[in-house]
Amino acid sequence: MMEINGQPSPEKLKVLLACFETGLHKIKVNSKPGSALSVKLDNEIEFTSSNAAVRYTYETQGVKVDTDTLHWFEWEVTTLRKHVGSYCSLSDKKILNINEFPNLISSLQYLENSINSGKLECDFSNKISAANCVVFCTISPLFCDPAIDGVFPVLRKHFDIFMNRGSFRSAWKEVTGGEGRVAFQAYFAATKTQWKETKPTNSTEASKPTEQNNSSKDVVSKEEIETAKKSWDSCNVKTTKPRVHPVLPKEGEKNILITSALPYVNNVPHLGNIIGCVLSADVFSRYCRLRGWNVLYICGTDEYGTATETKAAQEGVTPKEICDKYHKIHSEVYEWFSIGFDYFGRTTTECQTTIAQDIFWHLHRNNHLIKQTVEQLYCGRCERFLADRFVEGTCPLCAFEDARGDQCDKCGKLINAVELKNPKCKMCSDTPTIRTSEHLFVDLSKLEPKLRSCLQDSFKGEGWSNNAKTITETWLRDGLKPRCITRDLKWGTPVPLEGFTDKVFYVWFDAPIGYLSITANYTDEWELWWKNPKNVQLYNFMAKDNVPFHSVVFPSCLLGTDDEYTIVNHLNATEYLNYEEGKFSKSRGVGVFGDHASKTNIDSDIWRFYLLSMRPEGQDTHFSWSDFLLKNNSELLNNLGNFINRSLKFVSNAYGGVVPDPVVNNTDLELLALVNRELRDYVTDMDKLKIRDNLRRILSISRLGNQYLQENQPWKLIKGSNDDKSRASTVTSIAANLSSLLSILIHPYMPQTSSNIQDQLNIQGGYLIPDAITRMLSSGHKINKPSPLFRKLEESEIEEYKAKYRGREDGKKEVPKVEVEVGDSKGLEEEVVKQGNLVRELKTAKAEKLEIEREVSKLLELKKKLSLLKGEEPVQKKKGKKKKK
Ligand code: MF3
Ligand code: ZN
Repeated sequence: MMEINGQPSPEKLKVLLACFETGLHKIKVNSKPGSALSVKLDNEIEFTSSNAAVRYTYETQGVKVDTDTLHWFEWEVTTLRKHVGSYCSLSDKKILNINEFPNLISSLQYLENSINSGKLECDFSNKISAANCVVFCTISPLFCDPAIDGVFPVLRKHFDIFMNRGSFRSAWKEVTGGEGRVAFQAYFAATKTQWKETKPTNSTEASKPTEQNNSSKDVVSKEEIETAKKSWDSCNVKTTKPRVHPVLPKEGEKNILITSALPYVNNVPHLGNIIGCVLSADVFSRYCRLRGWNVLYICGTDEYGTATETKAAQEGVTPKEICDKYHKIHSEVYEWFSIGFDYFGRTTTECQTTIAQDIFWHLHRNNHLIKQTVEQLYCGRCERFLADRFVEGTCPLCAFEDARGDQCDKCGKLINAVELKNPKCKMCSDTPTIRTSEHLFVDLSKLEPKLRSCLQDSFKGEGWSNNAKTITETWLRDGLKPRCITRDLKWGTPVPLEGFTDKVFYVWFDAPIGYLSITANYTDEWELWWKNPKNVQLYNFMAKDNVPFHSVVFPSCLLGTDDEYTIVNHLNATEYLNYEEGKFSKSRGVGVFGDHASKTNIDSDIWRFYLLSMRPEGQDTHFSWSDFLLKNNSELLNNLGNFINRSLKFVSNAYGGVVPDPVVNNTDLELLALVNRELRDYVTDMDKLKIRDNLRRILSISRLGNQYLQENQPWKLIKGSNDDKSRASTVTSIAANLSSLLSILIHPYMPQTSSNIQDQLNIQGGYLIPDAITRMLSSGHKINKPSPLFRKLEESEIEEYKAKYRGREDGKKEVPKVEVEVGDSKGLEEEVVKQGNLVRELKTAKAEKLEIEREVSKLLELKKKLSLLKGEEPVQKKKGKKKKK
């Protein structure tokens, strides 16, 4: 039997809701005016903290309360509750303008952003989670009032769903006795003093964490205390071996081969591309080195294919020139983000040709290739087969005159280019003819059994993301079919087989081979990595649209060779990162692209931190400038940075920079034991590539550190008795050692910050992650001069960036400015062709409407100029109903 006592309050509401949600039925609710909350259980346990009671309720009913949830619990106690309370205690009868409560606004904004980004999951279709229970009950006195509306649409929407759940309605009715929020008045009045807002300043003093009046301290076991003591005393620090190139796998060691999807060379990567592949893989490879494993991280640019040809046509240069230009841009962006590839290569090399053709010959010899005749349009004037996107004509289905080779924009039906009526070559406007062309297909259906058994093993790898498994399973479920691996293009790896030598390999056959050839350009002994499945674990990082090529097509081709290739063991795919409320769009100027980040006043490590904390693991997330500011100022500046700076400054000021001698007691060991738990979780999560969530472990350790300093107050102890002084030494030494542990754990995420801390601590880099915290800084170790690690981001600054990368807000197309020399109709014709290609390109790529419209209007403008130049009537854009012929 559970007894919930106390006057009506949001806290009481939570506990009751938790009971209803988890199905705990034996409850008694008492209301005594003026009494504080207490939750009593049969076995005499009594809670006065509502969150502890909620946690207990969920846990006894078999729901695990994870660290994410605990984060929300803590934030609710230390932040949200105060801000809601300060508003509600003033606004008893009348509704005050919440805009006059900036702290409340910022908390609610944080909630809004967290829901948007998926950080706070709100799925009320099933059960209300513990985190939602705690957070939504706290805001209920505000949001039960429809007056708070319009400002936080997402929060409002979710609250309304929440409020309509039967369990909430029952709890609300029971607690407020049908009076609604008025019932909470006495509670808010009585607790008024707790809600007094302390003036926020940005000094270190003010950013100390708030005392937690009702957090329940975690209990550590005897064993944990013993382990903590043993490890602390052992002073056992291990260091990494220096990285010597070329890194090669070694027999009997853990050899990890990491790849990030090879980016195309026809664009500047945006933040979503960066977090999706190269940055994620970088974090993992740095982590592996911190574990002392033998790691090779390979990436490079994916340079062949139509995309490059088109871009080259657009920019009026050769494909090779495009590749050189963008390879350089990519390299520079990644370098700025401190992406530590072992080698960043490219696919247009001799090694690529050799290896791709070798794989091809093996497939050929093993009878995995079949020839099929494909009907295709051929332009006699351009002397080339036309890819679908290079043809236009009249739709055979609806007679729309501007249909594309693959789809009609009017009726939306998919078309076969050869079925178009009046087809036109988009390059020269000549009429192409149908020619048959023979192509080579790899017969995946024959390789399917082999692939299935290979994947069965591979799926045991811890690094597979759910989406990667699901996508792969879907492909297999539908059965594999032969896939065409050749194309009638010029820019690609040549097909070596007699009769096909005028063709190139299709990019998706060719590109993954790039991993091998890039490694071959790094070391002649590349086969030690790529033909060594027994001794090498292969990790592939990518965005989810790349999954089937890496899990099905490429592995099948490798298996078909009958050579012993290293095949993916862990495939980790991200969802998409969006920009604020929409999508990144280069042409509309929306969003931050790789080259922009370096031009802001924000360090690359801060960018890394924010992107990683938004890594789209499991669902799409949104980049948000406000959230960026909030995370920097609260998590980095006030939590992590504050702890390390306080600790080191104290060593400096009180001990002349010399780490004092520690004599640890039980309280200290309890702290160390809690830190060890975080440490253990850090390693477990990292092994499973839960990169985003794992950041929280680091922040939890510094939070524990801050609490420890706050509770022990070494700055007071040092002025006391000899015993007090000795305590001060111990606390200081532990804090300094925690800082050095943090410098290691932060390294994969923020490598420069990590070395900055290690410089200040005067220790060499290259420590391995310990199993449990140990004394890394011995007594007498002299540290360097400490300085703050992070800076505050100001609203004003963020507003500037917001405005800068918002793109055109009015949604109007930018009026195109076309500069063409009068009289040069040839140049203009080319422009028209190029622009036409771009438009089709965008349509094929399903680009955003606005973007397409913008380019279409440029195209029309160009056409108009051209007809004026030729003395013709300007062509009007066809509008209205379709003409029936
Ligand atoms: N260039 C492709 C993209 O950006 C990825 C190719 S990954 C590779 O989507 F392995 F195939 F190279
Ligand atoms: Zn042509």
